[in-house]
Amino acid sequence: MRIAVAGGTGLVGSRVVSRLRERGDEVVVLARSAGVDLVSGAGVSDALAGVEVVIDATSIVAKTSEEYVEFFGSVARTLQSAGEAAGVRRIITLSIVGIDGLGGGAFAHYDGKNAQEAATEAGPVPTAILRATQFHGFAGQLIDWVAKGPLMPCPKQPVQTVDVEVVADELAALAHEELTEQHVRRDLAGPVKRTLAELVRATAHARGRRLLVVPVRLPGAAARRVRAGALQAPPGAKIAGGTFEEWLVREYGPR
Ligand SMILES: NC(=O)c1ccc[n+]([C@@H]2O[C@H](COP(=O)([O-])OP(=O)(O)OC[C@H]3O[C@@H](n4cnc5c(N)ncnc54)[C@H](OP(=O)(O)O)[C@@H]3O)[C@@H](O)[C@H]2O)c1
Repeated sequence: MRIAVAGGTGLVGSRVVSRLRERGDEVVVLARSAGVDLVSGAGVSDALAGVEVVIDATSIVAKTSEEYVEFFGSVARTLQSAGEAAGVRRIITLSIVGIDGLGGGAFAHYDGKNAQEAATEAGPVPTAILRATQFHGFAGQLIDWVAKGPLMPCPKQPVQTVDVEVVADELAALAHEELTEQHVRRDLAGPVKRTLAELVRATAHARGRRLLVVPVRLPGAAARRVRAGALQAPPGAKIAGGTFEEWLVREYGPR
């Protein structure tokens, strides 16, 4: 099957591309570095010629809700309109567990993901949305973004992280699944509930970095809902993959 992977050079997308190629699919990568800009639309029509399925694993790093909404909404609308014109049969979008109504401040990314979900489901091409919890590597990303010195404030919140390899497995499988409805939604989570601060401490330790992690209560209604467990597996979620500790050893070696 000819499948396009939007964001196919990224953390998740590159893993999806490998899996699809291993199973014999013809894969087209949609990314600026591959000559396709999904915000401006440059190069998209040509790239989608003959494509049956699109997987959207795009992302950016931005600051404001407006930037995230503009990016994720534009990408979803571009894929829907160019996808319809090219005869694409389904679009599979990677999103995040529990983000309904969450956004602003520390959660600006979620405003973008809500806009992406709404824009793709508003389009004519049938959709599947895979909502995953934070990846096991999320704590490491947070360290890279936040910890500039020996002390790191870390939001007080429970998480239920999942292995990125399992997320890639699910997306590759969904690409080959005929959708029985116009809109399909799935939730995916890892097996263990932890606090984000625990994962940040363990990741810093595995990296050999001395870091004093200070849990902080973020203000606002969204933060309150996140502290109450909004980002953990909802009822009916698929629980899959190994634990954070198993991933940590695989990633950084035993300590
Ligand atoms: N991290 C987590 O814990 C987590 C959990 C659940 C879900 N997710 C979701 O996973 C998704 C993928 O994240 P990731 O970490 O794999 O992303 P990533 O590594 O940052 O990769 C982003 C991809 O998007 C492409 N891209 C960016 N701007 C583009 C544009 N204008 N046109 C075309 N392609 C563009 C990039 O390629 P170029 O730069 O070459 O354009 C790259 O291939 C995100 O949407 C995120 O919300 C993440």
